[in-house]
Amino acid sequence: MKRLFVIVAALIPLTVMAVDLSDEQRAAIEERIQPYSKVCVTGDEACSAKDMGAAVAESGARSGDAVYNSACMACHATGAAGAPMLGDVAAWEPRIAKGMEALYDSGINGVAGSSMIAKGGCMDCSDEEIRAAVDFMVAESQ
Ligand code: HEC
Repeated sequence: MKRLFVIVAALIPLTVMAVDLSDEQRAAIEERIQPYSKVCVTGDEACSAKDMGAAVAESGARSGDAVYNSACMACHATGAAGAPMLGDVAAWEPRIAKGMEALYDSGINGVAGSSMIAKGGCMDCSDEEIRAAVDFMVAESQ
């Protein structure tokens, strides 16, 4: 009985978090969890630029907001695990004060002792793409 209570108590914050998502965030998540066959792969000729949305850039590198939306928003849109939220000026101010190089370093290598792991877990993101995502997050949060 006690164990059941613990499980239920652990599920409540998860449920609340799911409910907290905006339609936009929910749509972005639904898009990401589509079966592989429905998702366009970069460089696949069969995929139109429209299907790829913002993910297509001239150089092949994804834009900062595309990287943010696929790899960073899970935590930074909700504040999950204590992540500074996108648009939260007060939360970002002391971080921005450290300078962009420090933030790029955190984005690429992670923040030790936190759930901010290297590249936010996006292991196929290039350093350049992570810097673009950090630029995007900072621009939206000051
Ligand atoms: C699993 C959750 C999670 C994901 C995914 C995630 N972050 Fe974070 N991020 C965090 C947390 C937690 C912190 C706060 C770490 C701290 O300072 O203790 C953080 C902090 C940061 C900071 C500020 C670091 C500093 O030095 O002040 C940057 C920049 C950042 N994240 C960039 C990114 C980028 C870019 C992505 C996507 C490529 C990303 N994060 C994905 C959890 C996440």
